[in-house]
Amino acid sequence: MEYLKFCFVFSCWMKFATSLSSTETPQTPAPIPPEKLLVLTVATEETDGFLRFMKSANYFNYTVKVLGMGDPWKGGDVGRSIGGGQKVRLLKEAMEALAEQEDLVVLSVDSYDLIFAGGPEEILRKFQQANHKVLFAAEGLIWPDKRLADKYPSIRSGKRYLNSGGIIGYAPHIHRIVSQWNLHDNDDDQLFYTKLYLDPLKRESLNMTLDHKCQIFQNLNGAVDEVLLKFASDRVRVRNTVYDSLPVVVHGNANTKMYLNYLGNYVPNTWNYEHGCSHCDDDTVDLSQLKEYPNVLIGVFIEQPTPFLPEFFQQLLTLDYPKDKLNLFIHNNEVYHEKHIQRFWDENRNTFNSFKVVGPEENLSQGEARNMGMHLCRKDATCDFYFSIDSDVMLTNRQTLKLLVEQNRKIIGPLVTRHSKLWSNFWGALSLDGYYARSEDYVDIVQRKRVGVWNIPFMAHVYLVKGTTLRNELKERNFFVLEKLDPDMALCRNAREMTSHREKDSPSPESFHMLRPPKGVFMYITNRHDFGRLISTANYNISHYNSDLWQIFENPVDWKEKYIHQNYTQIFTQNYMEEPCPDVFWFPVFSEKACDEIVEEMEHYGTWSGGRHEDKRITGGYETVPTDDIHMKQIGFDKEWLHFIREFISPVTLKVFSGYYTKGYAVMNFVVKYTPGRQAYLRPHHDSSTFTINIALNNKDTDFQGGGCRFHRYNCSINSPRKGWSFMHPGRLTHLHEGLPTTNGTRYIAVSFIDP
Ligand SMILES: *[C@@H]1O[C@H](CO)[C@@H](O)[C@H](O)[C@H]1NC(C)=O
Ligand SMILES: *[C@@H]1O[C@H](CO)[C@@H](O)[C@H](O)[C@H]1NC(C)=O
Ligand SMILES: *[C@@H]1O[C@H](CO)[C@@H](O)[C@H](O)[C@H]1NC(C)=O
Ligand SMILES: *[C@@H]1O[C@H](CO)[C@@H](O)[C@H](O)[C@H]1NC(C)=O
Ligand SMILES: *[C@@H]1O[C@H](CO)[C@@H](O)[C@H](O)[C@H]1NC(C)=O
Ligand SMILES: *[C@@H]1O[C@H](CO)[C@@H](O)[C@H](O)[C@H]1NC(C)=O
Ligand SMILES: *[C@@H]1O[C@H](CO)[C@@H](O)[C@H](O)[C@H]1NC(C)=O
Repeated sequence: MEYLKFCFVFSCWMKFATSLSSTETPQTPAPIPPEKLLVLTVATEETDGFLRFMKSANYFNYTVKVLGMGDPWKGGDVGRSIGGGQKVRLLKEAMEALAEQEDLVVLSVDSYDLIFAGGPEEILRKFQQANHKVLFAAEGLIWPDKRLADKYPSIRSGKRYLNSGGIIGYAPHIHRIVSQWNLHDNDDDQLFYTKLYLDPLKRESLNMTLDHKCQIFQNLNGAVDEVLLKFASDRVRVRNTVYDSLPVVVHGNANTKMYLNYLGNYVPNTWNYEHGCSHCDDDTVDLSQLKEYPNVLIGVFIEQPTPFLPEFFQQLLTLDYPKDKLNLFIHNNEVYHEKHIQRFWDENRNTFNSFKVVGPEENLSQGEARNMGMHLCRKDATCDFYFSIDSDVMLTNRQTLKLLVEQNRKIIGPLVTRHSKLWSNFWGALSLDGYYARSEDYVDIVQRKRVGVWNIPFMAHVYLVKGTTLRNELKERNFFVLEKLDPDMALCRNAREMTSHREKDSPSPESFHMLRPPKGVFMYITNRHDFGRLISTANYNISHYNSDLWQIFENPVDWKEKYIHQNYTQIFTQNYMEEPCPDVFWFPVFSEKACDEIVEEMEHYGTWSGGRHEDKRITGGYETVPTDDIHMKQIGFDKEWLHFIREFISPVTLKVFSGYYTKGYAVMNFVVKYTPGRQAYLRPHHDSSTFTINIALNNKDTDFQGGGCRFHRYNCSINSPRKGWSFMHPGRLTHLHEGLPTTNGTRYIAVSFIDP
């Protein structure tokens, strides 16, 4: 009854009726056994594309004979100009030995840009259904001679024109076809087959036809919109939605290689929903089994002011990889960062096997610097890998370098994303004009809903390249210099200049030096692990002394990691806080760095109030209980400070004064300096606040003596303030308090009167 479903047309119904009324059942020929199928392909090099082809062929147990391996390629530049005659010549030579094998079916296909989506039985069944001796792939675009269009037999629907990337036929017939070849290696193979096919007599005598409706062959050129992935439990197919077919041979002809790479991430069984990635552990290397770890050159690129650079360097130091196998090349384009690099150099110049810095005085363009770094590895035969990393990549996974090396690909990057955004370091697809396009799987890969190693068209910010690849496939390349504009880079240039076209999840414009796979080399991104994140370099104002303090809005995760006390979250999970006096709560909130940088920032500003009653900074101009202080507003830190209060103080308030929801509103936010020579203590007073926080910014005994706080109503003093810890207490009525004298050194505290 399956047949009926498709029999909408009257003629079809008639045919069905006829076959029903006929007394003879139609003769279905016996299926051709799969061992009678021989795949012939021409490949002169084992490119990544060829290896992918072989993998799909082996998966389905095709018998493949490779012709021409190791020969120099003489068939022209297929795709851009005519050529490919070498393929016909090699096929002709191979067919001479097979000409007599009547029942042998030969499948001749390209291999660099082609994958199998189904097995031999299926292809043979479909071939038999086509009821011809020879079947060619078809496509909707005519090549190489458009003038031949009129000569093609007209068809009612389907692809009209011959494509020579796929041919299937009985051996004697294929032999008869290719034996007519007498042209040169760089003549066009497709033109040769086309001319035979367009000759009506030959078409009939050789019993040739085209696979018009993509039953067997799917050429992607001009047909990208017709195909979809079809996920089944054990296998992924490509479905042609126009002909409702499941093609067996998928060919990324002309400029659809990137799209084939995308399909190849799934077809035939590379990744599916049930089993995830099936190839991820193929060809991997176990570093623990090696006598020695490979040598890696790390190229660090600081091309714009970047927040959290000292932390970036710390991440490099904590990479789990023997340091004597690491060589460091740093290009710094920013004078602002010279102090950070100097510090890193002073502390670590002997940590690595070698350490080279090129500073802003060299005036290198970004492209020149990247070429220089890459070339340092290329020209050094002992350099096994080149690991390029931009300063806005915060690798939180210490195993990153090991994991990438073990994955053993020519070019591979770890997925890094902007916190809580869809912004990442790769593109899943390119539009036809070379701009960013979002692939169907982009979001799933970024969010790690699909986990694997993905063949992709572009990436930036961080990647690992094999030294051998640099010395072979990437030998001649000035990868990053745009002025010379080789065609690939023209594309990058477009990308670079496309700021107005940019989508919100494409990589940041300031680092549009993206890597594109060179011809024949696949480029991968892995999201098998959580590797780290991309920092935002937008809105980074470097005119402060410690500019990272201002990054609470732009890079909240990194801000928290740098400035919030390690044990802060334990306040909520383990009640990690103290109550030294009634309703005076004491808890950790700032890291050492936060304390130090706030003090530095204030001393850098330097204009302390002097602790006078007259104070132009406040409404009324008079302060009853003045301190020697600087307001957060004076250093332009008030918005950030209030955000800090809302993010990190409000949750604590809610915990200890349950039912009180603070608005986190405060006018008086300041840093107080107590020192014997100026102001050493503060007399008993109330605060104009619902509650007050008082954070110690330095250490008793090492930085000062004395200090502390006394609450009169409870006859209770706290004499040993802890750096980074905050008091929180009601401001009025019950909590009359005083600042105890600092007897030596200088004591700093940060104070806010909240909800006045
Ligand atoms: C290929 O052959 C192997 C070994 O004979 C078999 O286990 C496997 O199932 C075959 N694969 C397919 C897709 O038929
Ligand atoms: C082509 O071959 C098939 C069998 O393979 C045969 O049935 C058909 O008649 C042939 N067509 C022509 C035009 O010779
Ligand atoms: C740096 O290079 C740019 C462009 O190559 C040039 O315009 C500029 O004058 C150079 N600056 C210095 C200080 O050499
Ligand atoms: C950067 O900070 C300085 C110093 O606080 C300030 O004067 C300037 O307006 C800020 N620039 C921007 C763009 O916010
Ligand atoms: C955090 O608490 C642990 C014990 O719970 C302690 O060992 C560690 O030193 C604390 N961290 C800081 C920065 O004080
Ligand atoms: C306050 O406490 C101290 C010891 O902590 C004690 O010596 C003193 O007598 C107390 N004062 C009052 C008024 O309770
Ligand atoms: C005061 O501090 C300085 C250095 O911080 C130290 O050398 C000195 O001994 C201290 N004086 C007293 C009286 O503790």
